[in-house]
Amino acid sequence: MKSLTGEYIGETWIKNRFVMAPMISNLADPSGLTNNNHISYLEERALGGFGLIITEYSYVFMDSAKGSRNEMVIGVSDHIPKLKRLTESIHRHQSKIFLQIVHAGGKALSPKNERIIAPSAVDYMGHKPAEMAEEDMEQVRKAFESAARIARTANFDGIEIHGAHGYLIQEFLSPALNTRSDRYGGSFQKRLTFPQEIIDLVRESSAIPVGIRLSLYEDDSDGYDASYGLAVAESLRNIDYVHFSAGRFAPPGSSASFYSNEMHILKKLPRKPKVKTMIVGSMTTPESIEEALKAVDFVALGRPALADPFFPSKVLTGNREIRPCIRCNQACRDLSYGEVRCTVNTLTGFELTRRRFTGLKGEITIAGGGISGLEAALKARESGLKVTIYEREGAIGGDLRKITDPFKKKEFDRLLIYYEKEIKRLGIDVCLSTEAERADIFAIPPVNYKDLPEIAELSIDSNIYKHQDQALALADQCTVIMSERSLDSMDRNRQVAYRKIAESKGIKFVRDPDMEFNVKNYTKNQHDIKSAMEQGISKLEYYIISNLPELS
Ligand SMILES: Cc1cc2nc3c(=O)[nH]c(=O)nc-3n(C[C@H](O)[C@H](O)[C@H](O)COP(=O)(O)O)c2cc1C
Ligand code: SF4
Repeated sequence: MKSLTGEYIGETWIKNRFVMAPMISNLADPSGLTNNNHISYLEERALGGFGLIITEYSYVFMDSAKGSRNEMVIGVSDHIPKLKRLTESIHRHQSKIFLQIVHAGGKALSPKNERIIAPSAVDYMGHKPAEMAEEDMEQVRKAFESAARIARTANFDGIEIHGAHGYLIQEFLSPALNTRSDRYGGSFQKRLTFPQEIIDLVRESSAIPVGIRLSLYEDDSDGYDASYGLAVAESLRNIDYVHFSAGRFAPPGSSASFYSNEMHILKKLPRKPKVKTMIVGSMTTPESIEEALKAVDFVALGRPALADPFFPSKVLTGNREIRPCIRCNQACRDLSYGEVRCTVNTLTGFELTRRRFTGLKGEITIAGGGISGLEAALKARESGLKVTIYEREGAIGGDLRKITDPFKKKEFDRLLIYYEKEIKRLGIDVCLSTEAERADIFAIPPVNYKDLPEIAELSIDSNIYKHQDQALALADQCTVIMSERSLDSMDRNRQVAYRKIAESKGIKFVRDPDMEFNVKNYTKNQHDIKSAMEQGISKLEYYIISNLPELS
């Protein structure tokens, strides 16, 4: 398999083609310093076989550059010892680590009301940043230069300049965002001037491989297309690779949900690029990765690396199922005030602190073959226990089996298949159509959301996922009205896609706090896949701890 073969980036040897994509985790300290939680999260992916880890975007040391709350800052020399701890943790697994550096430009967070700067003072989703003056540019150059020096001193193997997703460097490249008429704007070549200056400075100051992440295309109505993105990639000089992502402000952009196709960025690549290329975007299976490697040199996995840190090593050994990213965009997209999490992997973000039991002896019985019971069963078996599941229905899966939205079902069924295969592989006994009177663990959902009623005029104020799905199905046979906030349990990506489908089926959205709805179930914390898994594991841990002398 090509994915398992090594390749150079510049003079750096990467042992395989699996790259962990840059993903802000908010696991660093608020001061911008890495720490043991953050390092363990990245190290787990190196242990799992990723040949190259690209860190999350990390801002160059300027107040106006920060994009997320607990993002690493690169520019403080006192941080170097801790950054070395990070690189050392990755190198011990024979993996390489590149540092992604960013200036967030017009999308900066501005926590202390700093002046937000961008190439031009155009509209950024409701606000206008200040147009950069020459002094601003000089400050940005110096900040990138200093970050590059620190990266080298801290033993990073390469640097990725973030030139995608509507941050500063892309803002210069984007005809819609760069309306300057000086030497930095006004023509294709001039728009490349500032990004090229940054590339040259970073290379000079670091003398390690340098790549750039670009949006192959922007999804916005006034955005550039893939042939423009490819032309940018092939016109920039002095770089060792280009990393194609997608998007500026409008969804679906890079992290597309199950409403978009697999390999959604690769499918828009006009042809094989003339530069060393990495690509990202909705590649969730070994087959899609092999397919991508016909056109590019490396594949970056973002969300699939959150769902299963051991994705590459499972491809290598072929003896365990890969826990699938179901492109739900739920737990991993709650980053404004949260840390990285994953709906299907309760360890993500807790690599350092969660218990992992091994070498236990004895048996355990679990009542309930839904997500909660299945997750408890896998963990119990991995800890050494012999496991029997009792399920009163004729099949395992519980609510996973009852999903009605066809887009969602296609993707979520992969989780069901994962459980079926793992249960078989691990030799877990399953007794179907059997009501358990006694069991060591009762893995029963704490709440059962009622089905929507089938009435002629249905009005819904509920952000329960099941209700969102059922509303789409019922819209074919009755009038459906939904409150706007019924969609707020979805990320923006899913909201936009869902709303489009819903409106095409005649569903009307209202923002009326006084309206009387037939169904009211608006909640902050709904019971979902992740909480079902957490519940099963927590019950198992309690059982093990309470019975430890007999089980060890
Ligand atoms: C939690 C999360 C954080 C992200 N943070 C970054 C980031 O810091 N820098 C970046 O270039 N892209 C970031 N992205 C985009 C991913 O790198 C990737 O392009 C996107 O998720 C699509 O790849 P996937 O389908 O394999 O997840 C982030 C995505 C996620 C899900
Ligand atoms: S939360 Fe959903 S989309 Fe995000 S990584 Fe996990 S499974 Fe994938």
